[in-house]
Amino acid sequence: MKILITGGAGYIGSHMLVKTLIHGHDVVVVDNLSNSNLKNIHNIQSKISKPFHFIEDTILNDGAMDEIFNEFNFDAVLHFAGLKSITESFAKKEHYFENNVQGSNILRVLAKKYNVNKFIFSSSANVYGTVNRSPIKETDNLNPESPYGKTKQHFENDLISDPYFANQKECYILRYFNPVGSWLKYSIGEVVDSTKSNIFPMIVNSLRNNEPFKIFGTDYKTKDGTAIRDYIHIIDLIEAHYACLESDKKGINIYNVGTGIGYTVNEVLNTYKEVNNVDMMIEKASKRQGDASEVYASNKRICEDLKWTPKYDLAQMCYDVHKFSFHSM
Ligand SMILES: NC(=O)c1ccc[n+]([C@@H]2O[C@H](COP(=O)([O-])OP(=O)(O)OC[C@H]3O[C@@H](n4cnc5c(N)ncnc54)[C@H](O)[C@@H]3O)[C@@H](O)[C@H]2O)c1
Repeated sequence: MKILITGGAGYIGSHMLVKTLIHGHDVVVVDNLSNSNLKNIHNIQSKISKPFHFIEDTILNDGAMDEIFNEFNFDAVLHFAGLKSITESFAKKEHYFENNVQGSNILRVLAKKYNVNKFIFSSSANVYGTVNRSPIKETDNLNPESPYGKTKQHFENDLISDPYFANQKECYILRYFNPVGSWLKYSIGEVVDSTKSNIFPMIVNSLRNNEPFKIFGTDYKTKDGTAIRDYIHIIDLIEAHYACLESDKKGINIYNVGTGIGYTVNEVLNTYKEVNNVDMMIEKASKRQGDASEVYASNKRICEDLKWTPKYDLAQMCYDVHKFSFHSM
């Protein structure tokens, strides 16, 4: 297949790039490197023998994107490019809207113009907003609170209301839960900087800087008082995308991509410490605004439709995050 991967230098896109190259597809990556590094591209080029095109540009450059679609005649678009910080999105609402909605719509329109058969879009569990009950189903109400989540919902709606995708071609909207882990002997993974506020980056930062790990909220109504989330190994997430590539389901297909299992913060911390033989200081802190007590997916729909099953457990996720962050080759 001829495939366009937008955001292919980033965390999830670079894993998908590796997967598609291993399977012999012809791939073009477009990434403006706003949240990634050319080193990721060089690293993959050095490890995978199948060549690919890398184009450093923004998806907002509609003239350049038109030329790319015209030249390569894609069968599928895998659209990962986007800004993803919930916190930052409050301060930069318009920038997030332009990048994530307008940029995505440039791709949607070009996909139609050039008769692309398959469009796979990275959405997020964030579209559900603060949920009161889990497991969350794809049919549950959407109520995103962050501008980031609103951009995802907006573009989902743009795809759903486009008859080209709804009636003629294949469109997959994947709502990720919390992707973690690394691949290729721990040489690709999520690069952690000090601004990240998700649990795994916070663990890595606390170990790197020898600072206490802050647990936000210890009086939730859960088995140990800490919040429950659904974590999914990056390889399982990539396999879900690959299952979409191999499928031929016409119309709009919306899938939660999570394991369907929720872990408390304490369970994650204990597993991380145990499998990696490390210790860290823990500090209790008050709940963060908008953090729900329990969020995990119902993944029944994707498991049934695409015969996909998550294979990696929490211990493997903790091990792979640590290896990538502290011992990457
Ligand atoms: N990682 C997560 O926890 C998570 C969860 C849910 C959804 N998502 C979504 O999945 C997608 C990929 O996430 P990720 O974790 O790999 O993020 P990432 O930031 O590592 O990768 C995104 C890539 O897109 C590029 N990019 C951003 N705007 C661009 C533009 N206008 N033109 C070209 N390239 C652009 C960035 O440089 C980066 O390389 C994003 O759309 C994100 O919103 C991620």
